[in-house]
Amino acid sequence: MTPMNFLTQEETADYLVTGSWSKKAIAEAKRFGKTHVVCTSEDRNFCYIPAERKNSSNPAYVHFTSNNTIYGTQFRSEPETPDGAFLVCDASSDIFSRPIDIAKYGIVYAGAQKNLGPSGITLVIIRRDLIERGNPDVPTMLSYRTHAEKDSMFNTPPAFGIYLMGLVFKWLKQLGGLEAMAERNAEKAGRLYAYLDDGSLFRSTADADSRSLMNVTFVTGDAEKDKQFIAFATNEGLDGLKGHRSVGGMRASMYNAFPADGVDALIDAMQRFETGCV
Ligand SMILES: Cc1ncc(COP(=O)(O)O)c(C=O)c1O
Repeated sequence: MTPMNFLTQEETADYLVTGSWSKKAIAEAKRFGKTHVVCTSEDRNFCYIPAERKNSSNPAYVHFTSNNTIYGTQFRSEPETPDGAFLVCDASSDIFSRPIDIAKYGIVYAGAQKNLGPSGITLVIIRRDLIERGNPDVPTMLSYRTHAEKDSMFNTPPAFGIYLMGLVFKWLKQLGGLEAMAERNAEKAGRLYAYLDDGSLFRSTADADSRSLMNVTFVTGDAEKDKQFIAFATNEGLDGLKGHRSVGGMRASMYNAFPADGVDALIDAMQRFETGCV
C-alpha cells in the first residue's frame, strides 16, 4: 500500500534490501515508480545488515525491514532519511519487542502474527500529514485515508483479532512495557547466542553485529546433521526449529510471548545432542 499511496512514476523510493521481505517490498514499488537500492546484503545470503549505504538524491521515502525473519538479522537503529523523505518500516517480526523513537517514522506496518496476536490483521502507525497527502485516486479500500477516516471500521473489522491485540497490549504494560520487553528479549537471545559462540557443533549464521533478538538462525555446517538435530529436538517437544526453506538449517523464533525457560530447554537439548547423549 505504501508505494500505491505515496510513489508516482516520476518519483524514486529508496529501499534497504536485507532479505526476502524487503525484496518483495521493492518489487511491489517498481509497479508504481522508480526505486533505488540503498544497500543490499544479498552477496552473503543476507547474513548481515550493511553499514555502507547510499540514498538517492531526492527519495519520496526510505523503506526498511527492521527484523529479517528468515535470515535472523535485525537493524540496531533506524537508517538515515534524507530531508523531504519519510521513513517506512515493515516491523512485522519485531514490533513492540523494544522501544523505538516513533517520531523518526512516517509509516510503521506490522502483520500481527508474531508479537501482536492472531494472523489476519495488520497494525499500521502513520503520521497524520501523510494520511492527507496520499494519492486520492487509489482504490478506496487501499487508501490509508479511508481507514483513518472510518476509525479502521470502513469494512467489518476482524473484531476477535483486535480484541486479542488489546489483551496483548495490556499484558505488555503489566510486564513493564517495551523497556522491560527489550531487556527480556536481549536476555533470552543473548543466552542462546552465547551458547552458539561457545559450542563446537552449532554456529550462528548471522554476523555478530547484525543478529536478531527475535529469530536466531544457526547451523551445524552439515545438512544431514541439521536434519538429525531437528528430528531430535521435535521429539523432545521443541517443534518448529526447521529453518525457512530458502536457507535451511535451524531457526529459533523467540517472539515476545516465548518464555525464558524455552531457551533453557533448547540449550539443554543442543548440549545433549552435541555431546552425543541422545
Ligand atoms: C518481516 C515480514 N514482513 C512481511 C511478512 C508477511 O506477512 P503476511 O504473511 O501477513 O503477509 C512477514 C511474514 O513472516 C514478515 O516476517
